[in-house]
Amino acid sequence: MARITLRTLKKKKERGEKITMVSTYDYLSARFCEEVGIDSILVGDSLGMVFQGLDTTLSVTLDEMIYHTKAVCRGAPNTFVIVDMPFLSYQVSLEEAIRNCGRVLKETCAQAVKLEGGEEIAELVYRLHSIGIPVVGHIGYTPQSVHSFGGPKVFGKEETERLKRSFKALENAGAFMIVLESVHWQVAKELTETSDAITVGIGAGRYCDGQVLVFHDIVGLYEEIKPRFVRRYVEGAKIFKEALRKFKIDVEEGSFPSEEESYGA
Ligand code: KIV
Repeated sequence: MARITLRTLKKKKERGEKITMVSTYDYLSARFCEEVGIDSILVGDSLGMVFQGLDTTLSVTLDEMIYHTKAVCRGAPNTFVIVDMPFLSYQVSLEEAIRNCGRVLKETCAQAVKLEGGEEIAELVYRLHSIGIPVVGHIGYTPQSVHSFGGPKVFGKEETERLKRSFKALENAGAFMIVLESVHWQVAKELTETSDAITVGIGAGRYCDGQVLVFHDIVGLYEEIKPRFVRRYVEGAKIFKEALRKFKIDVEEGSFPSEEESYGA
């Protein structure tokens, strides 16, 4: 199987085929994604909340992102892998940002980096694009700005002009893909239909070129928060807890391990 590349994804948009993306952080879930033919894996900084149990994504480090990306790469060597650049790894200076984004591509199998923001990061996007680092933008609700938004926020039609400006700034700077998070579906539709950049929605309606959800939400493992845009395909947490309850009972009753589960005659 040939590895999915940026060109594969662009062709899908041209042909009107939907792009699938899953945000995940470890070897096994990445392997599941590749086995079922998911196009792209985002190693999202949501790992701060979902994997590390933090309240926000803000304290995730670049070293942690690289560690998780290496595991994902082992599980999904043929999938298009994108790394979320964590908070303060690209906002301090152009030089530091380029070095950090370059480090991700040098040390992992990732083919692109994702940055949150619009006009304020356009110059950086341009510089990265011009030295051969593919960039995915992320506008609408951007979790690294949670404190300035005052919490999760939905971008309605009244914010169309602001979203359009951010989108065009990123696209003109060379971003080949833009994640639209918690954006009114009509705005997402217009942006998708009027641009060459690939749009990937999360809470942005069905007209985006692709859709992304977090693995743990899809399989029902992350019970803490369930935004309106999440579809749980299985109640994973309930199934896992049931298995653990049964294991505990079997050990306590002495029915595990059986003879077949033991070494010897
Ligand atoms: O961190 C993440 O997982 C993300 C996606 C949900 C878009 O940014």
